[in-house]
Amino acid sequence: MTTKPSFLEVKDVRKAYGAIKAVDGVSFSVGPGEIVGVIGPNGSGKTTLFNSILGQIKPTSGGVEFCGEDITGMSPLELSRRGVGRTFQTLQVFTHLSVRDNLIAAAQEFKGTMPARLFAAPDAGLGHHADEMIELFRLKHVAHLKAGTLSYGQQKLIDIAMAFMPAPRLVLLDEPCAGVNPSLVDQLRELLVELNRTQGGSFVVIEHNMDFIMKLCPHVICMVEGKVLAEGPPAEVQANRQVLEAYLGN
Ligand SMILES: Nc1ncnc2c1ncn2[C@@H]1O[C@H](COP(=O)(O)OP(=O)(O)O)[C@@H](O)[C@H]1O
Ligand SMILES: [Mg+2]
Repeated sequence: MTTKPSFLEVKDVRKAYGAIKAVDGVSFSVGPGEIVGVIGPNGSGKTTLFNSILGQIKPTSGGVEFCGEDITGMSPLELSRRGVGRTFQTLQVFTHLSVRDNLIAAAQEFKGTMPARLFAAPDAGLGHHADEMIELFRLKHVAHLKAGTLSYGQQKLIDIAMAFMPAPRLVLLDEPCAGVNPSLVDQLRELLVELNRTQGGSFVVIEHNMDFIMKLCPHVICMVEGKVLAEGPPAEVQANRQVLEAYLGN
């Protein structure tokens, strides 16, 4: 029997807020280059799971391993240095900076010490990479505009492009399609496929848009009340009776 090489291993993670078991014993693994979808009704613990994996909050118990190393509770900075990044459910762009400067700042944040950054070139040598990303995300026509002047959908694209600036090996995306119009949703999916193909990173994607999940993710996890209710190919999970009942609120 062959075993998958260890990449991301989430092991029995639990997070309680008083009596609320937001995440109640979740385990799953993600292989190199894999795209995994996470679905589940509102309040089922998806964001708390991400926050527990990515050091935003300390899990009550359980652990997370990345490439064989225990990363439980590591700070976002330590995780970024190991090639782990994320996007948030809410926008994290610097509204007063241009699109291009947002991308440069996103990669710079984790580069070197403060004095090293002060004396580096103004774009820290990242301008070329930012321009490639701008090209890929079709943001060239707005690259020099302040991010805050753009539509929500475009800011969402910038937000996602920022997560990919440090060339991460694993990215967790929390509802990338939320508030994005349908034409941009398809573009976003194609971009993620392209980034997965060219950069080879793994993605874990929380999303309510089932069409997006079905087309993007060969493997889907459905969370309900803090637990994994079903896991497998998207068509199988979507047709699961317990999953359907959970979505209908029984
Ligand atoms: N900081 C917090 N304090 C108390 N309860 C929280 C906190 N964060 C999340 N919760 C609760 O944990 C549960 C899971 O929330 P969340 O992870 O945001 O779900 P999802 O992302 O699936 O919508 C919900 O019942 C929510 O109210
Ligand atoms: Mg959420």
